[in-house]
Amino acid sequence: MSLDVEKIRKDFPILHRPVRNKELVYLDNAATTLKPNIVGQIVSDHYLLGASNIHRGVHYYSEKATDEYEGVRDQIKVFIGAKKRNEIIFTTGTTHSVNLLAHILENTKICKGDEILISEMEHHSNIIPWQMLCQRNGAVLKVIPINDDGEIEIEQYKKLLSNKTKLVSVVHVSNSLGSINPIKQMCSLAHEAGALMMVDAAQAVAHIEIDVQNLDVDFLAFSGHKIYGPTGIGVLYGKEALLEELPPFFGGGDMIEKVTFEGSTYAGLPHKFEAGTPPIASVLGLGGALSYVGDLGLKAIEGHEHEVLAYGTQKLLEIEGLRIIGTSKNKTSIISFVLGDVHPHDIGTLVDQDGVAIRVGHHCTQPVMNRFKVPATARASVSIYNRKQDFDVLANSLRKTLEFFR
Ligand code: ALA
Repeated sequence: MSLDVEKIRKDFPILHRPVRNKELVYLDNAATTLKPNIVGQIVSDHYLLGASNIHRGVHYYSEKATDEYEGVRDQIKVFIGAKKRNEIIFTTGTTHSVNLLAHILENTKICKGDEILISEMEHHSNIIPWQMLCQRNGAVLKVIPINDDGEIEIEQYKKLLSNKTKLVSVVHVSNSLGSINPIKQMCSLAHEAGALMMVDAAQAVAHIEIDVQNLDVDFLAFSGHKIYGPTGIGVLYGKEALLEELPPFFGGGDMIEKVTFEGSTYAGLPHKFEAGTPPIASVLGLGGALSYVGDLGLKAIEGHEHEVLAYGTQKLLEIEGLRIIGTSKNKTSIISFVLGDVHPHDIGTLVDQDGVAIRVGHHCTQPVMNRFKVPATARASVSIYNRKQDFDVLANSLRKTLEFFR
């Protein structure tokens, strides 16, 4: 089944607003995706027609909001193939999820002298929380190198794994290279070494099917805003037995069972990890986004985006002096590039004049820039509403940019 892109585009009002008197060509989907009507409608309906807190009230709107909120947890369970709804913890995004995990693993599963493996292509949000943990408790951070195509060096990974390794935390799809990492294989190797496996699925979740049971990962994180949902909502998935065992990190309302000044006991899963009033409207909006994606089907999405990516790659490579950074055989949704000696920030500013939105910079992956010896890249990232002709517009605009600097 293929996607009806023109029909999809009708669901995204921003695509029909001229920008700088041009049609918007939105190719900054890796930074955040646009939102369909249904998501805006759900968020607005909650605030205007259904605002109430959850888990606390016995009145109509509180019970309604609670049911809807918990319903989204069930939806996510199905969406990522989790075994139990208790394994889905709401956070404010991937960054929150990784930080939360680092805190609850500290001195429980990761102690002084233990090793954490990450890869050279990680987003800063999958580097800094582990670095901070190591600074606090004396664990050791090690880095799996990547090759010139932007692929994990599996043989090096095998060599780095040892009985000291307690956690492997790797990105599923690189946000600056587009590489799809062999998570299942990496997870099985991590488990053989006795380590836990955490996956940053922020850039994967809207583009490839994820089945946490099939991958057998122990933890997985993603953000709602990269899959057509609101900002400020994300998920930490964890295997139930592990989450049961781990201590809470944030304390407050909703995560307790009994509170006294002498000591308190905590709620069971998933509430143990969800202290305070959560971003209810954003959770509901995420539910709408996942239904939208579910109706289109990830297989059809993958097929469409693959075609647009292949076309875009070919179009951009026709431009003199353009070099793509990230040429993994297995990649999705991202084309990062440099153009002669034009600084990526100049590229971004000039193509914006033609209504083209791309991201330029280090994409929160400075080690990737160091690996490829570039200060920054320009990045076009594709989504369900992009068409091949979006890359014609980008390519023409890049040619104009080159002319400008000649
Ligand atoms: N991590 C996001 C990006 O890649 C913001 O642009």
